Amino acid sequence: MAILIKNIKKLVQVETKPVANRAGEDMKNVNCIDDAFLLTNGDKIAAFGKMADFSEKILSGIKEKIETIDATGRMVYPSFCDSHTHIVYAGSREIEYIDKIKGLSYEEIAKRGGGILNSAKLLHETSEDELFEAARLRLIEMAETGTGAAEIKSGYGLNTEDELKMLRVIRRLKDETPLTIRANFLGAHAVPAEYKGRQSEYVDLIINEMIPMVAAEELADFVDVFCDKGFFTCEETERILMQGIKYGLRPKIHANELDYSGGIQVGVKYNALSVDHLEYTGNEEIAALKDSETMPTILPGAAFFLGMVYAPARKMIDSGLPVALASDYNPGSCPSGNMQLVSSMGCVNYKMTAEEVINATTLNTAYAMGVSDILGSIAVGKIANFFITKPMSTIEFFPYSFGNNKVEQIFLNGEHYKGF
Ligand code: NIG
Ligand code: FE
Repeated sequence: MAILIKNIKKLVQVETKPVANRAGEDMKNVNCIDDAFLLTNGDKIAAFGKMADFSEKILSGIKEKIETIDATGRMVYPSFCDSHTHIVYAGSREIEYIDKIKGLSYEEIAKRGGGILNSAKLLHETSEDELFEAARLRLIEMAETGTGAAEIKSGYGLNTEDELKMLRVIRRLKDETPLTIRANFLGAHAVPAEYKGRQSEYVDLIINEMIPMVAAEELADFVDVFCDKGFFTCEETERILMQGIKYGLRPKIHANELDYSGGIQVGVKYNALSVDHLEYTGNEEIAALKDSETMPTILPGAAFFLGMVYAPARKMIDSGLPVALASDYNPGSCPSGNMQLVSSMGCVNYKMTAEEVINATTLNTAYAMGVSDILGSIAVGKIANFFITKPMSTIEFFPYSFGNNKVEQIFLNGEHYKGF
C-alpha cells in the first residue's frame, strides 16, 4: 500500500544526498522541512517535500491504493535505530537493583541472584520459545516508543549450545517482527563459572568452537567482546576479533566502561563498526578514533542506572568525532529500551543539543549497526520506518518533555504499526 501524510508541521532529518553518518560540527545539522508532505510506496519512502510543492502529479507513479493522513500540528521523525541491546534474556534482576540501593557488594549481589552469570543460569533453564516470547514483548515496548531497528546480542548463554539458542531466538525476531534486526555474537560477555581460573580455555572455546558454529548457521552479523577491567583483556579480545573477522563477522565491542582498558584502541585496530560505553575516554582514545571508521557509541541509560561517570560526549563531538546514543537494554545495567528517554539523557547529562541527539539516535546508530544505507533518515528509497509525534512546538520539546511519550502513530516498512 501507499501512504500520503499531508500538512506535517515539521518533517525531521530529511536527506536528499544521504550520508553514512554525521561527525563533529556536522552533528548540529538536521535538515527539516516545515509544512511538508511524505509519501511511501510499499515499504519504501517514495517522495517528500513542501506542501506548497505538492501536486497530484507526484502520485501518478503509484499503482497501489493510497491512504491519506493529516498530520496538522505534528512532526514526523525517522524511527530510532537502537544499535546496542541485550533483549534476549530470562527473568529480570530487580533483586540486584534493590540490593544495590541497600549498598550490598557485587559478591553479595551475585550470591542473591544478580550478575551476568545468574542471567546465564536462568537462560539455561528457559526454553527457546519462552525466550522468544519475552524478547518479543520487549521489542514491542521499544517499537511503541519509536524504535524501528535494533541490534541484539547473545552473551547470556556462555556455552556453545546456549549461545546458539540465543542467536536462534534473535533470528526468529528478525523473521517474525517488523523491526530491522541485526545479530551480534557476544560469547565473550563473561567467563562462565565452570571456567573460573581457566579464562584462556574459555577464549579457546569461543574461537575454536563457537565462532565456526555461529558462522556455519549464519546466525550473526557481528562479533562482540566485553573488553574491560576484570572481563576480557586486549590480547584475548584481539584473538576473538581476528577469528570473527576470518568468519565474516565485523567487530562491535564493549570498551572502556570500567577503565582506560585499551579496548577503544583494539576496536579501532580491527576496524570495529562501533565501540560502545566509553565512560573512560581520554585524549589518546579520541586520537585513536579520529579518522577511523569506528562509531563511538555512548549508552546513557547504563551510566544513569549504575551511577557511573558520564562519557565525555561534548569533548568527543568538539574534537570532530561522531557520537551515537543507544539504549543497552539489558537486565543488569539498563532495564529500559526507551530511546526517547535516551534522547533526554543525551541533552541533560551529556550536554548535547536536540539536533546532535537526533543524529546520534537515528543516522549514527544506523551506521553503528550497518544499516545507514537503508535506515536512519527520511530519504527516497530508504525503508519507510518513521513516526508521527503528538502535537509538538519545537524539536527541542522532544528531549525536554522527558519521560513522556511523544509518539502518536508508528509506521514500519510502510505499514501502520498495529502490534506484533
Ligand atoms: O552492556 N557491559 C557489559 N554488559 C552489559 C551488562 C550486562 C548485565 O549486567 O547483564 C552492558 O551493560
Ligand atoms: Fe551492552
